[in-house]
Formats: sequence, C-alpha cells, structure tokens
Amino acid sequence: MIRVGESHRSQGLDGLKKVEVKLIMNQDQLREEIVRLKQKKGAIIFAHNYQSDEIQDIADIVGDSLELSRLAAQVEASLIVFAGVYFMAETAKILAPDKKVIVPEPQAGCPLAEMATRAELQALKKKFPGRKVVSYVNTTAEVKAETDICCTSANAVQLVSSLPDEEIIFVPDRNLASYVRQKTGKRVIAWDGYCPVHEEIRAEHLLEARAVHPEAEIWAHPECRAEVLEKADRVLSTGQMIKEARITRASEIIIATETGLLHRLSRENPDKKFYPARAEASCLEMKKNSLEKIYRALLEEKPEVVVDEETATRARAAIERMVQFVS
Ligand code: 13P
Ligand code: SF4
Repeated sequence: MIRVGESHRSQGLDGLKKVEVKLIMNQDQLREEIVRLKQKKGAIIFAHNYQSDEIQDIADIVGDSLELSRLAAQVEASLIVFAGVYFMAETAKILAPDKKVIVPEPQAGCPLAEMATRAELQALKKKFPGRKVVSYVNTTAEVKAETDICCTSANAVQLVSSLPDEEIIFVPDRNLASYVRQKTGKRVIAWDGYCPVHEEIRAEHLLEARAVHPEAEIWAHPECRAEVLEKADRVLSTGQMIKEARITRASEIIIATETGLLHRLSRENPDKKFYPARAEASCLEMKKNSLEKIYRALLEEKPEVVVDEETATRARAAIERMVQFVS
C-alpha cells in the first residue's frame, strides 16, 4: 500500500498506476493533482449543472446536458472527463466519436433514462405504427437509436410544434410529455417514466416556500409534476434558468429543480437570492461523482464510454436532427 504524500505529489503519481494507491491527500492536494494531470494530458473536465459545488468549481465547463455534449464535439482536447450521469457522457461520445470520453463513476446513471429500453420502445412503435418518436435526451443510446428526433426540456415544445404530425410518441418523461401536450395541443402518446427527484417536488413545497419568501418568483423545471408547473411563474430548463437569471428583474427566486443548480445561480448572480423549492431535491446519482473519482479517472484514463458503431450512428442522426432544428 502506498500512501500519497508530498514526495509523490512533487514528482507526480503516474508511475504508480499498477499499484493500489490509498489516497490520503486533502481536498487542496487533490485539486492540485487533478489540475496537474489535466494539463499534462491535455484533458478537459465537463460538469453538469447538478454536480456538487467542488466539482463545478474544478470543471473547465459547467453546463446542461445538451450544451456539454455539443461542446464535446467542438473542444480541441482529445480526452474528456464527463462528470454527470451516464447518458450524458454517452451523448457526448456519440457527438464526438474520435475523442476519448471517460467518467468518474460508471454507476452514476439516470433512473429516468433507465425507465425506457430499446425492446419496449420497439414494441410501442409496433402498436402505434407511423407515429414519430420524440425522445428526451435523458435516454440511453439504444433508445435514441429507435428515435426519430431528440429534444431537451429547453426545446421540446417548439420542436413538437414544428412537426407536421398530429400524434407523436414521447419518451421517457410523462411530466414533460404532458407539458408538451398542454402547450402544443397535439396528441402525445406518453411513456410512463419520471424523474424521482423532480417527482418529489410537490405543490405544497411551493406554497411553503412562498409563505417564507412572499416576494419571490417561482421557476420550475418541466420534469416537475403538473401541479407544480401550474403554480410556477415560469417553466424553464436548467440552461434557460441560468440565462434568465442574468437578465430577470426578480431579485428573489424559488427554484423547483435539483438543488445543485443553486450553486451556479448564486455564484453568477450575487445580487439575487435563490431558494430551493425542496431542499432535499438532490440527485443521488449525480452526487456519486467525487473529486477523488475524477482524479482516479484522469490518472488511469478509464472507465471509458463506448457506444457500438451501429447504435451510435442511428442515435447520432436523432440528436443531429434536434441540433439542426435548434440552430
Ligand atoms: P438538462 O437537460 O437541463 O441538463 O437536465 C438534465 C436533467 O437530468 C434534468 O433533471
Ligand atoms: Fe435523471 Fe432526475 Fe437525476 Fe436528472 S435529476 S439525472 S432526470 S434522476
């Protein structure tokens, strides 16, 4: 067992790859090592808006799932450490097939994405032949491969409105599907999936938060239940919340989404106050990542995200249709 202290830090740890390394670095040393390794390897760290504060602070780019995937294709680095949940890193790999994408924790998966499988979607398509499949980006690569066009919470309504079809299949989030149905007036065959984190935010939480902060606006993510969206002043994706927070005249805002977003909102807008609609709304999957796991992933350049060629090609077509629609 080798303990990592000053002497190893000064010469780097790369030579110790094959040896079990017990980390006794403190957080500052860990941060220094991550930065050193990142520079040495020409790597870049991406973090989703829901990552813990310390991961957001060390990341090169913090963003929503689509922003990060699109940037993966644009950045020069050939090694990307993706701190988020697995489908996000997979989407990045699909859009940047020549780059090596590694994840700090391969078990960090999105329960919503895992509620839809390729076989189940194939069966639903057989039941409703001819209907286009619109899939939220929170899906596996395999489900994307069975999809006509992807969407995010930021563009789902506009994208479905733009389709000539009067009836579509929407996968996998039932709350986003019902919001799309309400806003577009179209017939939406909704998958029965949901995000456990957003599902647990209830109307009563908004009422309680409003009672404490009577002047605050309420902004909710469309993965929330209809009873929450009805009470919200605005329904916005995480990326839209970040942009709108910079320009809104509201000085206090109750945020109905995963609480990790509040770190970035508060950091970028110190003149405004942000309150969680539900303080317990934390995505445990997102929080499986840690600085130590980022360090190990960088050191060993694994675990690597791999998507088979056939699945990646079909999934890429569905994602690129969305990207073309947005741009
Ligand atoms: P974004 O698409 O806004 O990054 O959100 C993904 C997500 O997991 C929402 O819960
Ligand atoms: Fe998935 Fe919900 Fe976590 Fe987002 S917050 S990654 S949708 S479980």
